[in-house]
Amino acid sequence: MNNLNTKPLSDQVALITGGGTGIGRAFTEALAGSGATVVIASRREDVLRETAERINSKVGSSSVFPYCCDIRNRAEVANLVNDVFERWRSIDVLINNSGLAVPETVEAIIDESWDKVMETNLRGPMYLLRLVLPHMIANNFGDVVNVSSQAGKHGYADVPSYCASKFGLIGYAEALRDHVRKVGANIRVFNFCPGLVDVENTDPCEVPRPGFIHVSNMARTLIYALSLDREVVLEDISLYAK
Ligand SMILES: NC(=O)c1ccc[n+]([C@@H]2O[C@H](COP(=O)([O-])OP(=O)(O)OC[C@H]3O[C@@H](n4cnc5c(N)ncnc54)[C@H](OP(=O)(O)O)[C@@H]3O)[C@@H](O)[C@H]2O)c1
Repeated sequence: MNNLNTKPLSDQVALITGGGTGIGRAFTEALAGSGATVVIASRREDVLRETAERINSKVGSSSVFPYCCDIRNRAEVANLVNDVFERWRSIDVLINNSGLAVPETVEAIIDESWDKVMETNLRGPMYLLRLVLPHMIANNFGDVVNVSSQAGKHGYADVPSYCASKFGLIGYAEALRDHVRKVGANIRVFNFCPGLVDVENTDPCEVPRPGFIHVSNMARTLIYALSLDREVVLEDISLYAK
């Protein structure tokens, strides 16, 4: 059964929010290097374009496509999903990676930054997923990868809104996992809960800062997770420096 329900990464289309930088860029490089078509979406077109050009020249093919989109903007997200489906007819891997934190305490928190964090880290992915899921169900194939955080598992006094958004993302993902199980869809849900990831020292030979892990560990874990048999449920993936 498993073999019938899978397909090689080289036949898959991935959509990665925030794929132009940091963890998202490492995911993009790993997937493009495995032969997947990868659409990277975020606000800064120049950053996306530069990442796409760099990775395309490295893998020697036009595999990475930049798409300018603010995850907080419903119309832009709808256009993104429509355009990707119109061109490729599927989104096989959806990676909800875009995210940010606004450092402030529970007492100091203001509505503006609270909204910004929740819109970017939680409502954006919820909205994107609502648009993508019907297509995944119709294709009976899909993997949803959410980049939460150790701050989605533990509370930290300096980033309460970030913690709330990342806990929320895991809750939403667990509900999604239950939903696709109930409807019998061939869709898996993975949640990354990293601790500190060094997104500055990213070259393979560079040593991460103390307390951080090298970003390549995220990419390698992604490829490993996607390689698992499709009926395997891999619960939240916590990884951090010892
Ligand atoms: N690095 C860590 O230590 C760490 C640890 C745990 C979890 N995480 C999570 O990992 C994810 C990636 O973070 P990172 O460390 O790789 O940092 P990063 O390089 O700053 O990546 C964040 C990405 O989110 C995108 N983004 C922000 N606001 C957006 C919006 N409104 N619409 C669309 N895209 C938006 C940014 O692109 P634009 O500016 O172009 O929009 C950027 O590419 C985040 O969800 C973060 O919370 C990181």
